[in-house]
Amino acid sequence: MSNNLLKGKTGIIFGALDEKSIAWKTALKCHEEGARIVLTNAPVALRMGEINKLSEACGNAPVIGADVTNMDDLKNLFEKSMEHFGGKIDFVLHSIGMSLNVRKGKHYTEMNYEWNQKTNDISATSLHKVLRTAWDMDALNEWASVVALTYIAAQRVFPDYNEMADAKSLLESITRMFGYYYGVKNKVRVNTISQSPTRTTAGSGVKGFDGFINYAEKMSPLGNASGEDCANYIVTMFSDLTRMVTMQNLFHDGGFSFTGVTQAVIEQMEK
Ligand SMILES: NC(=O)c1ccc[n+]([C@@H]2O[C@H](COP(=O)([O-])OP(=O)(O)OC[C@H]3O[C@@H](n4cnc5c(N)ncnc54)[C@H](O)[C@@H]3O)[C@@H](O)[C@H]2O)c1
Repeated sequence: MSNNLLKGKTGIIFGALDEKSIAWKTALKCHEEGARIVLTNAPVALRMGEINKLSEACGNAPVIGADVTNMDDLKNLFEKSMEHFGGKIDFVLHSIGMSLNVRKGKHYTEMNYEWNQKTNDISATSLHKVLRTAWDMDALNEWASVVALTYIAAQRVFPDYNEMADAKSLLESITRMFGYYYGVKNKVRVNTISQSPTRTTAGSGVKGFDGFINYAEKMSPLGNASGEDCANYIVTMFSDLTRMVTMQNLFHDGGFSFTGVTQAVIEQMEK
């Protein structure tokens, strides 16, 4: 059911790889809520062709390839998007994460630093690059809303999350820093949403993911938040109902972040 929360708004959605992606679900919700959107992903991800299905479901939304670490690609993306919309942009979803050390099975204490730089570039500095491109091109409307996705390993240790914990800390810091400057300059707001473990391609890449997601489920009074729940929350952050929220890390995790222990976990420990 649509509430037309994004009627008349325009946005760019990064990171829809397949139907499980949080970005995929968010794109569908944004379309349902009346927004016009442009879809983007790394050229290598677009070659899989899945995104064309999403484009069709979103009123033939244009698909524009961009490696999020490449400033020329980002400039081209914003230029073409503004041309398509005939004006500036109201929201951006940064739903991107990739760890080379995790992918290649390197332990945190034996990190390969070249891979680590690439991980930080793709997963964190890329948010700076997106915001900087928009800033330089004056591409965002006043009260525009930028959301990036993060995980609580930025605040607390989850060993198998590896170097992504550091990348997410950096991502959250860029959110605060750029959020400050963009707020002052143009009333643009920037926030991260810290999501429950979710079965997606990126999520399932974390070692011991099954244990991870089951533990979080037991440790959350409401249970884990699904990808659909996350998409709904992102829509509210893009809407005018949350205009004064900026520079925040917003936990969307069924209460996990503030729970010390639950009865379910105690019972498990007593076995
Ligand atoms: N799944 C979870 O458990 C979980 C929990 C909290 C936060 N998150 C975060 O949510 C976001 C989305 O991940 P997801 O779980 O939907 O997985 P996903 O694998 O569907 O999405 C990750 C996306 O990043 C894109 N990407 C990778 N390198 C890129 C590059 N160089 N340029 C452009 N795009 C690139 C991929 O193509 C893919 O579309 C990530 O930031 C992830 O860390 C996920």
